[in-house]
Amino acid sequence: ATQRTLSIIKPDAVAKNAIGEIIARFEKAGLKVVAAKMLKLDDDKAGGFYAEHKERPFFKDLVGFMTSGPVVVQVLEGDDAIAKNRDLMGATNPKEAAPGTIRADFAETIDANAVHGSDSPESAEREIAYFFESSELCPR
Ligand code: CMP
Repeated sequence: ATQRTLSIIKPDAVAKNAIGEIIARFEKAGLKVVAAKMLKLDDDKAGGFYAEHKERPFFKDLVGFMTSGPVVVQVLEGDDAIAKNRDLMGATNPKEAAPGTIRADFAETIDANAVHGSDSPESAEREIAYFFESSELCPR
């Protein structure tokens, strides 16, 4: 079924000038960008996005990393978009990511892991609404 998912190109991948290569992978896999913007997150915005991880030992580093430079947030739409995006990204830890995945090709560490993608329909709905007004989504 057609789904929408939230994708974030993280500060490490933006710093590597890999925005275009990463979005090309989404498009070549049949996902369409229906919303996109570049943002510099502050502690509140990044911490709120990752609220479910607030008690985890890596939370402070995660927020520090996500506020270290601009990110590109996008809404991707397509058949089975949530799982398709996760397949394209590869494992959270780039050292475990399958060859040819975005994290294998662009990421160095579990914190600087190039991309984020929603992990379920419920989180996709929350995460999309966290960054975009419904009027900013462009059906196509
Ligand atoms: P992301 O998919 O954006 O969701 C939470 C992020 O926390 C994750 O990618 C990683 O970049 C980061 N992280 C750091 N350490 C861990 C860990 N031990 N387990 C899961 N995520 C981690």
